[in-house]
Amino acid sequence: MHLEVNQLHKQFHTRRGSLTALKNINLHVEEGEFVCAVGASGSGKSTLLRLIAGLDTPTAGEILVDKVRVTGPGPDRGMVFQSYTLYPWMNVAENVEFGLKLQGVPKQRRRQQAAYYLEVVGLSGFAKALPKELSGGMKQRVAIARALASQPKILLMDEPFGALDVQTKETMQQFLLEIWRSTNTTIFLITHDVEEAIFLSQRIYVLSSRPGTIKQELQIQLPREAHPHVKRHPVFQQYKDKVMELLREDGYQSKSWEELPLAI
Ligand SMILES: Nc1ncnc2c1ncn2[C@@H]1O[C@H](COP(=O)(O)OP(=O)(O)OP(=O)(O)O)[C@@H](O)[C@H]1O
Ligand SMILES: [Mg+2]
Repeated sequence: MHLEVNQLHKQFHTRRGSLTALKNINLHVEEGEFVCAVGASGSGKSTLLRLIAGLDTPTAGEILVDKVRVTGPGPDRGMVFQSYTLYPWMNVAENVEFGLKLQGVPKQRRRQQAAYYLEVVGLSGFAKALPKELSGGMKQRVAIARALASQPKILLMDEPFGALDVQTKETMQQFLLEIWRSTNTTIFLITHDVEEAIFLSQRIYVLSSRPGTIKQELQIQLPREAHPHVKRHPVFQQYKDKVMELLREDGYQSKSWEELPLAI
């Protein structure tokens, strides 16, 4: 087993009292798998990913990567966030090389590795460009190249396409599936976008809100040709209805209505 999360519990203590963000989370991601967790805002998705990345510590429970307990961040877990996290003063290649530099990889080797992954994400021509010269989609490609460059055992992604427009998002989803296939990377991605989760993953964990628990695990069996037309497949619609129903039972729909302004 690759990634294993056992009886994970996370409680935050704030001035307004304590809040249980995650309760009794059990999940696993096998080598080479692409797994998504889908849940409404506040269901603890980012908290879960931060715990797996070792950026925060669980209140109870454990996280294992290849049977070794996670106690902090490490190069075995690559992370891609929703917001753009490139260093603005470094060019694209330097950004991709940064993690390798921290690991003490020699310059020559770093250069080769960065060049290779920039080619994988289709940005070889932009090695010397600064992040401000790139579009949102291109920045996320660089972030993916940077995460892949350290050759992590697992790629952790927190709503990586959340800030992109619909068309760019679709292109990036296709692109990510191609990368997953060509590099055999293990991916765990979290999103609130039900279609995205079904389109990308082989398995989905549906999360409930406040506290975040795993409501259901679904196996997704769809033709994997990485083309958006699979979204029009009747089986795709059935999966979507099923996940939406699970989220709705949990108040997902009513919450989004509640968030609308009262005065119209
Ligand atoms: N550092 C923190 N201190 C206190 N409470 C926190 C902290 N981080 C998260 N929370 C709370 O934990 C709950 C889950 O937050 P989290 O950010 O994990 O949700 P999410 O599913 O990622 O939401 P979104 O879809 O909006 O990104 C929320 O109620 C949030 O207010
Ligand atoms: Mg979040």
